[in-house]
Parts: sequence; structure tokens; C-alpha cells
Amino acid sequence: MNPAYFKNKVVVITGASSGIGLACSRLFGSYGSKVVMAARSIEKLQAEAASVSPVPENVLCVRTDVSKEEDCINLMAKTIAVFGGIDILINNAGISMRAMFRDLDLGVIKSLMDVNFWGTVYCTKAALPYLLERKGSVVGVISIAGYTALPARTGYSSSKYAIRGFLDTLRIEHLYDGLHVMVFAPGYTSSNVRNAALTADGSPQGNTPLEEGKLMSAEDCARHLAKGLYKRKSAVTLTALGKLVIFFHRLFPNLTDKLTYAYISREPDSPFHK
Ligand SMILES: NC(=O)c1ccc[n+]([C@@H]2O[C@H](COP(=O)([O-])OP(=O)(O)OC[C@H]3O[C@@H](n4cnc5c(N)ncnc54)[C@H](OP(=O)(O)O)[C@@H]3O)[C@@H](O)[C@H]2O)c1
Repeated sequence: MNPAYFKNKVVVITGASSGIGLACSRLFGSYGSKVVMAARSIEKLQAEAASVSPVPENVLCVRTDVSKEEDCINLMAKTIAVFGGIDILINNAGISMRAMFRDLDLGVIKSLMDVNFWGTVYCTKAALPYLLERKGSVVGVISIAGYTALPARTGYSSSKYAIRGFLDTLRIEHLYDGLHVMVFAPGYTSSNVRNAALTADGSPQGNTPLEEGKLMSAEDCARHLAKGLYKRKSAVTLTALGKLVIFFHRLFPNLTDKLTYAYISREPDSPFHK
């Protein structure tokens, strides 16, 4: 991959205050891109701007709640006002959950759909005319859970399947006018996502059932994303386990259900046993 490909490209990244979004911001900043960082916590974005680029003019921080359409419209308007165009949109902002559906306040599923699915739809809609002008790229960060269901995460899996359906459709609609649409599915990656995951009543879980240090780093994940953009891939799926699960699910769906059940039921504090 040639990092010069990204020099001076305008890259809008949602969920840029933490984890994969922050790692992407830093990576594209190091390639000389104009990076637009969006998230709700503007203070965190501003505190990280210097780590994204030593050139302050190359970074724009915009307070954005992607579940609000007006915020997504404002994000793209500010980007155009400052940088004059959009080359790449990375729909990365996302939240997770961990609770059985039987115990779940339905507001949790609504929140996940609002942030993960509608956030992607609102941002893509607002950026699309500009992306088309530059034959640019739109990315949706989904998950292995957007290909094979993850129990105790009904809202999460549903939102990620929905993003995949949305973007796969958009790709066909724009097959012949230069728009590149990529569905990017990380496997387990070290980040804050499990701490922030919502429990049955909508409060954050506040801990992680996984050993975060043993997972793929957000920086490695960002490098895979950049490579996929450079090669204009339609889909990128990460980690050996993630690829294996999708492959198995296609061939042996019932067996994969049983293996997934066994795997999740062994998680510390598994919702299966509550
Ligand atoms: N980590 C993994 O194992 C993993 C695996 C597969 C897929 N993913 C996906 O990767 C993406 C990034 O997650 P991460 O792991 O990097 O988690 P993270 O560290 O928790 O980061 C999530 C980011 O999303 C932002 N966000 C949350 N709600 C938002 C909203 N309403 N509007 C705007 N921004 C919002 C957060 O910023 P604010 O709170 O400041 O708004 C934060 O910057 C997510 O879509 C996640 O589903 C993660």
C-alpha cells in the first residue's frame, strides 16, 4: 500500500474520540490526510487533535451525535466549509450491549439502531453528493456480529446486519459512477466498546468480559481498514477467528449456533446464566 494515496484526502471519521476511530484518525493524520474527527465528547477530540497531526490546520473536530440527523448534516457542512470536499467517510461510531432479549428494555435496541444504523444512514446521506463528486469511499464499520449472530447482543447484531444490507445495496446503486462502498468487519479489538456496552436497563456495563490486552490492537485494525480503502475492496473481515466463524456459519449453520452458544456461555458473568 502506498500511504501517499491518502495525502491531502479529506477523511471524515465518526466515533473518533476512542478506540478504532481514534486509531484511524492518527493513521490518516500520519499519511497527511485532512482529518475530520466527530464524536459527542468534543473535549476528548480536541485533546487528541495534536496526536493526529502536528499541523493544526489538517484536523477539524466537530461535536456530533450521529443519532441526530441535524448533527450529521452539520458535520458534513462544516467539513465542506473548511476543506471544500469529502473523499472518504468512515462510519465508525458505535455502541454495543450485553443482555438477554427476555430481560431487555426495548429502549436499548432503539439506542443501538439510532447510533449504529441510523448514524450510518444520516452521515452517508449528508456526505453522498460530495463523495460522488470525488468518486470517493464510504465505509461502514460493522462486526463479525453483522454476519453471524451474537447472543445477548440482539440489538448489536441487528444493527450491524442492517448496516451491511444498507451499504451492499448502496454499492449496487452506484456501481457505475465511481463510488466505492466498503463493509469493514473487525473481530475482537481492544477498545472501550465493552465497557460502554449497555446492559438490560440501558446503563453501561462498566467492565469487559474479555482480556483486552490479548485482542487485536485498534492500530492494527486501522491499518487493515486503510489497506481495504487503498485497494477499494467491497468487504474486509478481520481476525482468524472472525473469518473462521463466518466460513463455518455458511457451511454448517446449526453446528455454528451450538458452538456460539457454548462460547458465549463460558464468558465471565455470562447473561445466559442470570
Ligand atoms: N472493539 C471491538 O471489538 C469491535 C469489534 C467489531 C466492531 N467494532 C465496531 O467498531 C466501532 C468502533 O468501536 P470501538 O471498539 O473503537 O469502541 P469505543 O472505543 O467505545 O469507541 C466508540 C466511539 O463511538 C463514539 N460514539 C458513541 N456513540 C456515539 C454517538 N451517538 N454519536 C457519535 N459518536 C458516538 C464514541 O465517542 P463519544 O462517546 O465521545 O461520542 C467513541 O469515539 C463500533 O462501530 C464497533 O461496533 C468494534
